[in-house]
Parts: sequence; C-alpha cells; structure tokens
Amino acid sequence: MAGKDLIEEAARLIAGAKNLVAFTGAGVSAESGIPTFRDPGGLWDRFDPYELGGGDIFSSIFRGSKIPASATTFVSEMLEVLEKAHPNPGHLALGELERMGILRSVITQNIDNLHREAGNTRVIEVHGNIFRLACLGCGSKIGLSREDLFELGRKLVGLLQKGDLQGLISLASRCWCGGICRLDVVGFGEPVQDMPQAVQEARRSDVFLILGTSGAVYPAAYLPEYAKSAGAKLIEINATGCYFQELVDVGIIGKTGEVFPRIVERVRELLEMD
Ligand code: APR
Repeated sequence: MAGKDLIEEAARLIAGAKNLVAFTGAGVSAESGIPTFRDPGGLWDRFDPYELGGGDIFSSIFRGSKIPASATTFVSEMLEVLEKAHPNPGHLALGELERMGILRSVITQNIDNLHREAGNTRVIEVHGNIFRLACLGCGSKIGLSREDLFELGRKLVGLLQKGDLQGLISLASRCWCGGICRLDVVGFGEPVQDMPQAVQEARRSDVFLILGTSGAVYPAAYLPEYAKSAGAKLIEINATGCYFQELVDVGIIGKTGEVFPRIVERVRELLEMD
C-alpha cells in the first residue's frame, strides 16, 4: 500500500502543476478487466503478437492472405473483455483532474477508449483506438460505436471459425471513397500515431504522470525522457515496480485504480485549502 508521504508528495506536485500531462499504459485498464501484455499470464504470454500482425487481424490476413491459427481465440477474448470493460476509478480520477482544470492531456498507449469514456477530451492515442476504422485508401477515420464494433467482432469470429478468408475480406468495411477500412490500431512495426503532438505535450509539461506502463515499447517510452529534459517533475504509479526509476521524482508501487483516486482526493483538499 502506498505510504501517506508519497501520496502527499504526489498530490502537492499535481496541485501546483501548471501543465500536467499523463502518460498511460495497459496497467491503467487492468482493473477494468482488460489483460495487460507483459504481466505473467498477459496477452503476449499467451499469443504471438507478430503472428497476429501486432493485434490487427485484418492487416495480417490481407498481407499474408492466411488466417493466423490463434486469431479466433485472440479476437474472441479481446471482444469479451472489451464488451465488459468500463472506466475504473483510475480512469475516472484522470477525468476528474481534467474537469478540475488541472490535467492538460492524456497520452495513452491503450486502444480501449476508456479515457474518453471517463470524460477526458484531450487524449492522444499513439497506438490508435479500436473503436475507430481507418481507410487504407484515403486515410479517413471513421468512429465505431460500441454496438458497431461488437457486431463487427461477432461476424469476424464466425468467419474466422469457418476459415472463410473471402468472407473476412468482404467483411472489411468500405469507406465513402471505396477503399477498404481496417481497425485503427497500430501493429508491431507500424508507425505510431500523433507522436509529434505527444512529444510536444511532454516537453510542455511541468508535472508528468507515468501510469501503468512497463516502458517496453518505443517510441512511446521516450516520452518520460522528453518531459524530464524539459524540467518536469515525474510521478510514476505501477503495481509491480518502478520502470522509470532513474527519471522519476516520486515512484509509487500500487494499483492506479486504488492509489490515484487517493491522490486526486488529496489534490482537491489542497486546492480547497488555498
Ligand atoms: N495499476 C498500475 N500498474 C499496473 C496494474 C495496475 N492495476 N496492473 C498492471 N500494471 C503494470 C504492470 O506492472 C506493467 O508494468 O502495468 C504495466 C503494463 O505493462 P505492459 O503489459 O507492457 O503494457 P504497456 O506498457 O501498455 O505496453 C506498451 O506494448 O504490446 C504493446 O501496443 C502494446 O500499447 C502496448 C505497448
């Protein structure tokens, strides 16, 4: 359990921040029931990301014109957890900080849309968003409702189970330009999204939160260094350890869904005291 002094130190930094930016990873969504990637039993413990095209099944099918063996299980599992997932207290606390006018932006590696569902509006999704399609022809982005995504997902699983490659290709949505659309998620080896904007946010920050990420994937994992080099104070919250310990000013080992709401509650008290 995080000590009161670390909670206090983190809350004071946040309460005094002029440009607070949060950087999040899969750990923030773990308490919403979405498995992380590298924890024991995590997704990359059980599935080969390269076989699955880094998570975007359509691309790996179109590229390889074959259906990865583990695709059906992976897609079924992801759909099941996403359908049940809703923002947890860690997400909600970040939404609260934006409503309090303190949080400038959230830079996330997560594709689950939970920061937006928690009320954050300035969200930079460097690995994309599964509730969005991208046209391979003209690059247009098309939002998907939860219902649309889960309906598309159920059809996808049915076709995967039958090994119906033609059916899968005809399932791909069409853009107004006639182009084929894919899920707007970034696979391994694919260019990340909005990185210049994310770097600019990190460089502008005076307090930078690192929440629930192992820092295993670049270029996203460079962001804490950009913030540090710009003179920001760094606060890390992670359930199993401090992955940026050479950079952070406050390192808290704990679950974001438990620790972060306590910090935001203390921030509220400090600001009401001013
Ligand atoms: N609260 C805080 N931290 C947690 C929690 C929790 N409840 N549960 C797990 N964690 C921590 C783990 O200790 C781990 O350090 O979250 C981190 C999750 O790390 P990863 O599984 O590596 O996820 P992430 O850092 O987001 O991975 C980055 O890798 O595969 C790609 O595209 C994928 O966006 C992902 C990227």
